[in-house]
Amino acid sequence: MATTQHSPRGSWNSKLGFVLAAAGSAVGLGNIWGFPTQVADNGGAAFILIYLVCCLLVGFPVMIAELAIGRKTQKNPVGAFKALSNGNKLVPLIGYWGVICGVMILSFYVVISGWTLAYVFEEIFYFLGLEAAAQYVGDLSNGFKNSIFTLFFMLLTILVVTGGVSKGIERATKTLMPVLLAILVILIVYILTLDGAREGVAMYFKPDFSTIDANLLLSALGQAFFSLSLGMGALITYGSYLNKKQNIVESAAYVTIFDIGIAVIAGLLVIPAMFVAQAGGVQIFNPETGALFSSVTLVFDVLPEMFHNVGGIIGLLMGITFFILLGLAALTSSISLLEVPVSYVIDEHGLNRKKSAWLVGGLVGVISVVVSYELYLIDVFVNIFNEIGLPLGGLMICIFLGYFWKTENALLELKDGYKNVENGNFSPLWIILIKYISPILIALVLITTIWSLIT
Ligand code: TRP
Repeated sequence: MATTQHSPRGSWNSKLGFVLAAAGSAVGLGNIWGFPTQVADNGGAAFILIYLVCCLLVGFPVMIAELAIGRKTQKNPVGAFKALSNGNKLVPLIGYWGVICGVMILSFYVVISGWTLAYVFEEIFYFLGLEAAAQYVGDLSNGFKNSIFTLFFMLLTILVVTGGVSKGIERATKTLMPVLLAILVILIVYILTLDGAREGVAMYFKPDFSTIDANLLLSALGQAFFSLSLGMGALITYGSYLNKKQNIVESAAYVTIFDIGIAVIAGLLVIPAMFVAQAGGVQIFNPETGALFSSVTLVFDVLPEMFHNVGGIIGLLMGITFFILLGLAALTSSISLLEVPVSYVIDEHGLNRKKSAWLVGGLVGVISVVVSYELYLIDVFVNIFNEIGLPLGGLMICIFLGYFWKTENALLELKDGYKNVENGNFSPLWIILIKYISPILIALVLITTIWSLIT
């Protein structure tokens, strides 16, 4: 299928289109569900501060690195590392690892996304007084029901990706991102008028520095990688559709700021909403341990109960829009997860876009049906592919760029679209971050994660 008029591989139509597509990839379940619950779990604003530091010292420089590698080679991650490998057989493994992570992360991401769709129906059935039907679609442990919603979500993802870079991905994200923002703002304004919301806001902005330890650092860095879509070549792939006129550093800054902004704003919705639920008599802390309930319980039990308590047409509208918000955010992210293996099959195996999207999408669909029945696999996949896979990928990207491809060559690539890249403070800072600070921080986190998993 032809993608754009510019090149047979496809390219972004506009600067804004690219920034929104990359921001769409970044803004997802990680922001609207992951970030707020992590903040609530890890000392409120103290976590936010550490998270900001991780995004600036590690996320932002790695994002620039991925985009530069992508635009330089105009290839998928495997092809990109091959092109820059000088015949070294190990270097392309970074790309293969990214493709595998993409397939596996997507396989559980669509199951959770399927739950958000199912809960749109749960809210409607509840409103109509169809208790049994509401309970049926709201039952997270029903494997058959999970697979139906999961496969439907996968289908949406495949349909966008078959549309191509500008006519599929760019067009979808350009339409969906403003809708997402509008829903978020409306929900926040309304939530803040309800009883209990103030307490939530206070907790959100009150830093508890006593919680800062190695574990918190680890969660913050992991969250930054996942939320910014880094470490598996999603931004190498999106970068490969960029033209030489675009300023990579500036675009990466927009995407990072946008992603952080949406996460912080989403916290203003989800955390007050939890306290509104509590004010309505719903438990949000585990009575035995005193800890906050898990994020799955909070989003799929506590919040729906709060919407039911609000009741009537307002409760219904809040419930539906909240789960649609989550679903839209998830869709603009799942697209990017699928695009990585799809672009690999197109570039390296010569299939056309339509065939590759259905082939890879079909494979992911099969794995996701298994995950729909065996939910413990979500934790297993999160451990292997998110918590280890992404930082490992990020570490290899830093080492590759800093010591193999070399920062001079990367800066040469960044110069296109940013003439003065070598003149200001940016380039010396970025070189130090990408060669020393990021890899050392990531390595420390990785060692601690692996250590805590095996002991
Ligand atoms: N960033 C998305 C989120 O916050 C998830 C995601 C999409 C992702 N593409 C990715 C994570 C690539 C890692 C790599 O939900």
